[in-house]
Amino acid sequence: MLPSPVLLEKTRMNLNELNSVANAMVGAGKGILAADESTPTIGKRFDTINTESTEASRQRYREMLFTTPGVADYIGGVILYDETLRQSTSDGVPFAKYLSDLGMVPGIKVDTGAKPLAGFPGETITEGLDGLRDRLAEYYDLGARFAKWRAVINIGADIPSDFCLKANARALARYAALCQEANIVPIVEPEVLMDGDHSIERCEEVTNGALGALFAALAEHKVALEGIILKPNMVISGSDAADRASPAEVAEATLRCLKAHVPAEVPGIAFLSGGQTAEEATEHLDLMNKAGDLPWELSFSYGRALQAPALDAWQGSEDNYGAGQSALFKRAKLNSLAHAGQYETSMESDAA
Ligand code: 13P
Repeated sequence: MLPSPVLLEKTRMNLNELNSVANAMVGAGKGILAADESTPTIGKRFDTINTESTEASRQRYREMLFTTPGVADYIGGVILYDETLRQSTSDGVPFAKYLSDLGMVPGIKVDTGAKPLAGFPGETITEGLDGLRDRLAEYYDLGARFAKWRAVINIGADIPSDFCLKANARALARYAALCQEANIVPIVEPEVLMDGDHSIERCEEVTNGALGALFAALAEHKVALEGIILKPNMVISGSDAADRASPAEVAEATLRCLKAHVPAEVPGIAFLSGGQTAEEATEHLDLMNKAGDLPWELSFSYGRALQAPALDAWQGSEDNYGAGQSALFKRAKLNSLAHAGQYETSMESDAA
């Protein structure tokens, strides 16, 4: 049976809307601030600055980030955690409204974490599909217009298995289809971890496998590629590798991998930083954009690489609120320049 004209019209409208939200997030030199640390994870970050993690301290830290003067010129979307989506500024404006009034699209992490994959030691599967349709409807009402789901792929002697790549790709695709049904742009994140002493060649091999499985699953699940954002790892040496690939090699291998798998219909690719230093993450992004002639926006969706300098400057103290904002502003601006291929490492020492 043919779909009714009304249904067709609705689908088309939704796709246009999804595509324009995706472009607002990563177009025009903008990128995404990943501020969706779960309560245990933000607790670990606060431990590093001897700051107690309470609902109030988490609110204040996120408020510092979101209200950074001028940051909306460089940040087109902010990924929130459930608690943060329900919080407000000190003046009582819900964060989602505050952000969207400034043109920063609010989004929400919806997976419930990577859990051990039964029967496959050392590998994980990301959970959170049960009840997701209802949760997405509520998040939409709270103002979220995009979502994030992270699959975690470990590199080891005999892992990842093909099964692990496929199982995670299918979960990502089911999540993405549910998001699009709810008129929410899915950020699709298959993260190959940097942990380990593997070579860049091994990372490329595994990333090729992960992206191949992902795009096959997205096609099977009828996900519209014009309405997603891909959030991949860069192809990079393991963090304990003795012999580390150069920034030029990282840029070249990452682009080779993305060009092999990511169709031109995908409006944007926004990298995770994954444990790179803030400066490395910026330089790598810049080198790829300097190479030019890419079919997609190539941008950032950094957590640590945007926040670590701000967290460090803040130290949990009201006295350092402005210093924390300056540190975030600097990273957002430099990453926006890297998105345009106009960053130079010498800019690091210039005043923000
Ligand atoms: P990092 O940039 O710190 O890797 O975090 C990005 C993110 O959202 C991981 O899911």
